[in-house]
Amino acid sequence: MNAFDRLLDAEHEHKRFVYVMAIIAALNGLLFGFDTGVISGALPYIQQSFHLSTFHEEIVTASVLIGAMVGGSTGGRLADRLGRRRLALGAAVVFFVASIGLALSPSVSWLIAWRIVEGVGVGVASILGTLYISETAPPDIRGSLGFLQQFMIVTGILVAYVVNYAFAPSFLGVIGWRWMLGFGAVPAAILGTGMFFLPETPRWLVENGHLDEARAVLSRIHTREETEQEIDAIREASQQESNGDLSELLSPWIRPALTVGIALAVLQQVTGINTVLYYAPTILQSIGLGSIASLFGTIGIGVVNVVFTAVAVMYVDRIGRRKLLLIGSAGMTVMLAVLGLGFYLPGLSGSVGYLTLGSMILYVAFFAIGLGPVFWLLISEIYPLHVRGTAEGISSFFNWAANFAVSLTFLSLMQQIGRSISFWILGVFGLITFLFTYYRVPETMGRSIEEIEADLRESAIIGSDRGTSTTTDDT
Ligand code: GLC
Repeated sequence: MNAFDRLLDAEHEHKRFVYVMAIIAALNGLLFGFDTGVISGALPYIQQSFHLSTFHEEIVTASVLIGAMVGGSTGGRLADRLGRRRLALGAAVVFFVASIGLALSPSVSWLIAWRIVEGVGVGVASILGTLYISETAPPDIRGSLGFLQQFMIVTGILVAYVVNYAFAPSFLGVIGWRWMLGFGAVPAAILGTGMFFLPETPRWLVENGHLDEARAVLSRIHTREETEQEIDAIREASQQESNGDLSELLSPWIRPALTVGIALAVLQQVTGINTVLYYAPTILQSIGLGSIASLFGTIGIGVVNVVFTAVAVMYVDRIGRRKLLLIGSAGMTVMLAVLGLGFYLPGLSGSVGYLTLGSMILYVAFFAIGLGPVFWLLISEIYPLHVRGTAEGISSFFNWAANFAVSLTFLSLMQQIGRSISFWILGVFGLITFLFTYYRVPETMGRSIEEIEADLRESAIIGSDRGTSTTTDDT
């Protein structure tokens, strides 16, 4: 083997290591997707077992979101304190135990308690995957690898639909739900085993003074020269740091990033993705599909979500985060307007029904290329190292809280003011997302995490010189 071949080979070796790390870390998303997606199919059977009231049904569904708010908000700080790897191992254990607990629940109270515990794992997982990936991946492929987490989330949702379908047959009777919920132990075991073999992220190691270990990990990702450059860059970024407490988060140079992280968190939910995913079977039935066909149709919508997320994975490092967000939110806005119109026109059967169905599918596709993955990726990129975990946690908390608020209110909103207007309201939020992205969201493609941090500082200085502060970059 000549020197050139050896070099190529070494590069392959590095790339392979990075991909393997990213895929394992993204399994956090698989559990997130599975655990939030599984309940819709399980609920009718749980209802038969325990004779739930509507109130109990809502609580069983929403309890995972309550847990996720806790997990999301505290997970970031824990990730800063314990390290990303150790926390991921802990989350895998929580998922595993909660899945078994759910499957064996003797009463509805136990079920709710285990759903909350599982939710804590979901909240932690919602930030850990992209956090781990953004701190290990080289800048040129960081977007695609970060998008893997959302890819795994939507795959998890699809797996949940399929598992629900598989465990629904009559021979299992009403206990089918126990298998559906218990199945979560399988991906949990895979995540735990995978994370056990992964190293801690180099950025966390440097920040916490484990330089030799950081060097060892980085040398598996980069050449020797790049490794030293990386270490210097991370050290420099972390030396500028202070304590990373709440007042630091509100300082003028971090505030713009925090505004972006919180606004996108809320907008990702108030544009209604989970309502549409949840409402899909009903819409499919109202255009005349039978119940089995509409279950298949729901799986179809899950497939659209996966396929378009894969498209986004391929393009994010070529066309950038901002463009994907702009195209995605514009498309979602138009589709929500058409969806509202479909409900407004008389009679959902025939061509109006297909118009509604078509706009719903395209809406999911536009979400999948933009707001779905870009939000989770950006919150792992835009915050400075020393507050990253905490700030990601805050963004994640707002995302879960908005998810909770929408799922508790949307159905009654539709009853009060009608389906058309409700979907048009979601469309208005789509438009707000577009405008907010245009004016406020920075482009992070191709820049190292430390460069993004330097940009933030610089724009804060420029901003304070001008008496304003902005992070917008229109390139
Ligand atoms: C995003 C959202 C999540 C949603 C999923 C659907 O990950 O955060 O709430 O269920 O996308 O694709």
